[in-house]
Amino acid sequence: MCGIVGYIGSRTAYPIIIKGLQRLEYRGYDSAGIAINDNEIKVYKCKGKVRDLELLTKQKPIGGTVGMGHTRWATHGAPNDCNAHPHRSMHGKFVIIHNGIIENYDHLKKQLAKKGYTFESETDTEVLANLIENFYLDKKVDAETAVKLALTKVIGAYGLVVMCADEPDKLIGCRKGSPLVLGIGEGEYFLASDSTPIIEYTDKMVYLNDEEVVVVTREGIKLTNLKDEIQKLVVTQVDANIDNIDKGQFEHFMLKEIHEQPTSIYDTFRGRISLDKRHIHLGGIADVMPRLAQAKRIIIVACGTSYHAGLVGEYLFEEFARISVEVEYASEFRYRNPIITPDDVIIAISQSGETADTLAAIRMAKQQGALILGICNVAGSSIPRETHAGIYTHAGIEIGVASTKAFTAQVVALTMMAFSLAKKRNMISDERYAALINGLVDVPSKIEEILLNEKAIKAIATEYKNATNAIYLGRGYLYPVALEGALKLKEISYIHAEGYPAAEMKHGPIALIDQNMPVFVLATKDKYYEKVVNNIQEVKARNGKVIAIVSEGDDTIAHMADQVIEVPDCDEALMPLLAVVPLQIISYYIAVMRGCNVDQPRNLAKSVTVE
Ligand code: M6R
Repeated sequence: MCGIVGYIGSRTAYPIIIKGLQRLEYRGYDSAGIAINDNEIKVYKCKGKVRDLELLTKQKPIGGTVGMGHTRWATHGAPNDCNAHPHRSMHGKFVIIHNGIIENYDHLKKQLAKKGYTFESETDTEVLANLIENFYLDKKVDAETAVKLALTKVIGAYGLVVMCADEPDKLIGCRKGSPLVLGIGEGEYFLASDSTPIIEYTDKMVYLNDEEVVVVTREGIKLTNLKDEIQKLVVTQVDANIDNIDKGQFEHFMLKEIHEQPTSIYDTFRGRISLDKRHIHLGGIADVMPRLAQAKRIIIVACGTSYHAGLVGEYLFEEFARISVEVEYASEFRYRNPIITPDDVIIAISQSGETADTLAAIRMAKQQGALILGICNVAGSSIPRETHAGIYTHAGIEIGVASTKAFTAQVVALTMMAFSLAKKRNMISDERYAALINGLVDVPSKIEEILLNEKAIKAIATEYKNATNAIYLGRGYLYPVALEGALKLKEISYIHAEGYPAAEMKHGPIALIDQNMPVFVLATKDKYYEKVVNNIQEVKARNGKVIAIVSEGDDTIAHMADQVIEVPDCDEALMPLLAVVPLQIISYYIAVMRGCNVDQPRNLAKSVTVE
């Protein structure tokens, strides 16, 4: 949540920062602002998107080679001009941008008020700006020390960039809980919430650790912690593809990312499945495989779409590896005092690797001795750095707020884990193992087949674009896909949608069914097929509209349903990877037809770094 970017070097900072903010806009888009040292630190900010900021600054020539920018996902205070970042301290000494939440801001604000400080905004960030300034003026220290002194008083999370009017050719960056990356270029440096605004200029990144403070000038970098101890600068070479951050021929990132799934799935298993398609080798968890194979229980923690991937994982691990699995919303797990033992293995699933609740959940479980694994997409992000081992999904940068290719890549990672664990535990024959691996390898081409049907799927979306509610039904492996389909529809089109296990329908939701209710039924040929056919009949008997995702050539359901979308056949354990794709496409087109901002749905942000 919130994107921050800073630049110091010899080029004009303004265009670099604006472009950086555009790249980071998926992290929040309630307001945008910049601060540039152009003889003095000038601040421009406004409610709305980066393009509104560009309009605001259009007529103003903005020079300067040091600056920073912010795109906001509002926490404290409404999204308006005043609450937009950067925030300037009362005496004008400091300007700061912040991602995170200062939990004790009210207490700090009252203390500062007693000292005569007044506040223009409702934000916690302005309190922090004033707190830094208060230390600076009272203690007569330099800017870096004032920042450190202030941060020792702060409870909460921050990714922060600070500029000081008296030391204008300097950026001070610090983090705790919220991410901050330093990019090292040729005589220039970048600070940002993630690598997306930086990779165009350099592939050398330093991922700051909690409570680290970096002081960046044109002459170099100094990395210390809050206790002022020098920290080792660990430079990572980031292998990111710049094409991933452009929409290319597509109108939206979401559509582009849906279409990238054959490649992103292939990239996720490439190098991990042997050429003869008989073995899976997961290098990232190879060392911990013996402990994983002995686990009494696997607990998967995640949020949102990643949670749905985790539910698919539950079916996979239990069926193939015969290990008991619990899937938990990270936000509930971390606060309900769960029973965790050293025999448990926790798997955190997160596209961003920064989700605050998931991060907190693994920290808690780690303290109780469990083995912690991660399935993450963003290399170098916080979760992979705090887990004992893990698997990266190689989905590439996902920009659309609605997760699509990250979901299928997570499911692929879980599928490979479950199959190889089954092998390790001798729960599967060589033939079955090889057949499943072959099935997985065929998934990308089968998704390509589904994508060829996009026009027909779009036509179905047209039929339901005015719906006010929708129900999604699935059983077994396809129950999590029903949940994911409903989430996709509601988050981008604002149509109320719910997913249910198909058999649960008659325990309540069936009361909602009438001629206006679209019911998306996942009804491919698996062991539940006959039962799902019955569920379709029950919906039709009440005049509901049925849109069924069926196996190729299914005549039975074609005669009952209002519309069918065929998907190629595959093992039922792999079907989530195929069946989700038509649901992603339907949601996408319904949202477009309703005029919604598909890539930046209202109230949402891509990376939820606050709890
Ligand atoms: O980065 P994460 O995978 O941890 O994010 C979890 C959720 O915030 C995320 O999946 C969210 O639900 C998406 N908007 C869903 O499309």
